[in-house]
Amino acid sequence: MTGVVDFLLTGAGQLVTADPGLGAGPLGLVERGAVAASKGTVLWAGPERDLPDLPLDKRRTVRLDAEGMAVVPGFVDAHTHLVFAGDRADEFAARLRGVGYEQALAAGGGINRTVRETRAASGAELEAATAGRLVRAALHGTTTLEAKSGYGLTVAVERRSLEVLASLAARTRVEVVPTFLGAHLIPAEFAADRAGYLDLLEHEMLPACAPLAEFVDAFCDRGALTVEESRRVLEAGRRAGLAPKLHANELGSTGGAALAAEQGCVSADHLLYLEPEEARALAAAGTVAVLLPGTSFLLRTGRSAPAGVLRDAGVTLALGTDCNPGTCYCESMQLMVALACVHGGLTPEEALLAATDGAARALGRGGRAGRLAPGSACDLVVLEGRSYLDLAYHLGVNLARVVVKAGTVIARSGVDTGILAADVEGSLLHGR
Ligand code: NIG
Ligand code: FE
Repeated sequence: MTGVVDFLLTGAGQLVTADPGLGAGPLGLVERGAVAASKGTVLWAGPERDLPDLPLDKRRTVRLDAEGMAVVPGFVDAHTHLVFAGDRADEFAARLRGVGYEQALAAGGGINRTVRETRAASGAELEAATAGRLVRAALHGTTTLEAKSGYGLTVAVERRSLEVLASLAARTRVEVVPTFLGAHLIPAEFAADRAGYLDLLEHEMLPACAPLAEFVDAFCDRGALTVEESRRVLEAGRRAGLAPKLHANELGSTGGAALAAEQGCVSADHLLYLEPEEARALAAAGTVAVLLPGTSFLLRTGRSAPAGVLRDAGVTLALGTDCNPGTCYCESMQLMVALACVHGGLTPEEALLAATDGAARALGRGGRAGRLAPGSACDLVVLEGRSYLDLAYHLGVNLARVVVKAGTVIARSGVDTGILAADVEGSLLHGR
């Protein structure tokens, strides 16, 4: 244990470390907990009465008293489509009247429509809208967030989407993990030449986009890409230096999850129509299952990913918001924890672990994010509640009293105190 303490939190009625070695049960739960950090990294976490005598930077140490409230690791959102222009509120209303998601997509709406609006937006408009969403996520306790391109589907606009993320990443304390999703859909202008689009993706888009991304993803599903098309994208992405992820089994059982296992994907996401043998294959491949309970809820098919099958197979679970204009327009990981419990069949402990440690694993950041253990980033949320159970129980309000990223307080009671650099304050006014 080295370093001068410059962040000290005490008084956590419950401290969720998400490290079973540090406390009780799978959450590593500590009563009356404390956390000490140096330069953004946790030095020590445990019961306050055991807090060692660490060298303290007396003038600069940030001291936080949690006043008996529960403290959890900062949320990791493992799956978002944050970069888009426009909205599809009318499509949502139509879904409430019984018009299915796939019906809208097949009729040229859905993703196609957001692609048209995103192509028409300027870089500045796109960045302002994306910044607003990022700020809202952080105000709700998200400290690490994956974000995909995928509404450009041209070399220029896919690249622009990733540039927006790079520019934002440079302006925010939240860690932004960029994913290239040029294979979100075969765009309308290539409907008669699907292979032609994949040629473009492989030979022009990937060279332009891979330097700005960490992961490659494809929407492998009914009405989107086939298994063969998705395999080609993942393999090309890997050759370009990107780690694979996959949208799988959201709308039907078309073999996406099996492909994710075959390709050794870091994560397979959605999995509503998962076959038991696919769950076993994911476990064997070490692929994390990213569950998106907001999407399952809002698709209104009554179906969610089979938690029991995944649990029995021993697959690591993660959660994400899927924040996007079509299936789930929501930035709050708190709501995802609640929906995972109430609608998705997870226990509150599984859901919270999936929203922190599990989601970090889905982003290749296991142990570095999503935990409050020595060596992890000092990212945490002081909840407005004495128990982590409030995340599922006290519904529909923002329970983030204080949000800390790398030892810095970035939000207090819904107010941005350091999410974005000063030059972009007011972005909430632009962002939708
Ligand atoms: O994860 N499935 C593909 N992409 C999104 C939906 C995107 C949209 O409808 O705009 C999803 O649900
Ligand atoms: Fe998605």
